[in-house]
Amino acid sequence: MRAYIASTAFYVPTDVVTNAELISRYGIDTTNEWIVQRTGIEQRHFAADGTGTSDIALPAAREAIERAGLVPDDIDLIIFATLTPEHAFPGSGCYLQAMLGIPGVPAMDIRNQCSGFLYGLATARSFVETGMYKNVLLVGGEKHSVGLDLSTAGRSVACLFGDGAGAVVVRSTDDPERGIHWMNLGADGRHADVLVQRVWNTRTRPFIKLNEDGDGIVPKADLWTHMDGKHVFKNAVEKMLLSIMGMCMENKIDPTELDLVVCHQANMRINEYVRDQLGLPAEKVPNNIQKYGNTTAATIPILLSELERDGRLKPGMKVALVGFGSGFTWGSAYLVW
Ligand code: ACO
Repeated sequence: MRAYIASTAFYVPTDVVTNAELISRYGIDTTNEWIVQRTGIEQRHFAADGTGTSDIALPAAREAIERAGLVPDDIDLIIFATLTPEHAFPGSGCYLQAMLGIPGVPAMDIRNQCSGFLYGLATARSFVETGMYKNVLLVGGEKHSVGLDLSTAGRSVACLFGDGAGAVVVRSTDDPERGIHWMNLGADGRHADVLVQRVWNTRTRPFIKLNEDGDGIVPKADLWTHMDGKHVFKNAVEKMLLSIMGMCMENKIDPTELDLVVCHQANMRINEYVRDQLGLPAEKVPNNIQKYGNTTAATIPILLSELERDGRLKPGMKVALVGFGSGFTWGSAYLVW
């Protein structure tokens, strides 16, 4: 028995924020040229106030279930990958489960940042292939817009991220060719503080600082994401390349035999460098970061869904998935679609 991705879907909020609007709406001192040249990003989508991460995920989840020919009652496990859950606890998976109207179905969150979808896929695959669960709903969803310092001080991070969700249903197939043939995950916690948000800190009591009135306060330095961009860039390129090369060796294929390499969308320059090193043409390493920015756990399922919808992803294709992110964490998968 082998697990496969039976359906894909995605949802992005309707409010499009172009690079020019980072300047006009928020007063950030930047230029469209700077952002496009360094990252490839032209715009991102921001969700409205009052919308939570699970709300963004709901339309994608519903559509993925429908496209798999199922109804919510058929789902027997929800896995929700996110670094922006509504609250410290419970996880977004529980909120999504309630909205899908399937009480009793187990719901777990995966906290592996940009690699969250791949960690989630490995988890879904294991549950399906051991026979414990039959129809697993795997969602990657984020609401970054509320956690960005949308001022000039935060511009190097704020220009990168967007809101959105992608969802897939993972099931088993009897087809000997099709499905998830191989997966690999990795992490190196020595770099944990290179890309980090420290809104709360359980090393100290209470875990959020208090002011004289006893109200919780988060100093600005802890409120926003800290990132050493150059260090992230260098390690992302290295680990993504090593992941794909290892994947090809283990599966005895040459990178040029891959029909598609679906990369996490953190920075178009990272993906172009990886493509260049693998000697692949642009159409085999597609990007959509131009439209959505980095939606962390959602980038891979959003891109898969777009590729499937517009016919670039077809049954029988040899597909590599690869991602890298905060932790550091990374992962890759080899699939026959
Ligand atoms: N607009 C204009 N100028 C800017 C902006 C901006 N949006 N952001 C930074 N700058 C300025 C800086 O202030 C700095 O100015 P200075 O030289 O006067 O001090 C200058 O541009 C260079 O800044 P750097 O941060 O050194 O720029 P760099 O070339 O490294 O590019 C970037 C920054 C785009 C963030 C790059 O490092 C990168 O993409 N790294 C990878 C980041 C990434 O992928 N993160 C997410 C992956 S993991 C995950 O998704 C959780």
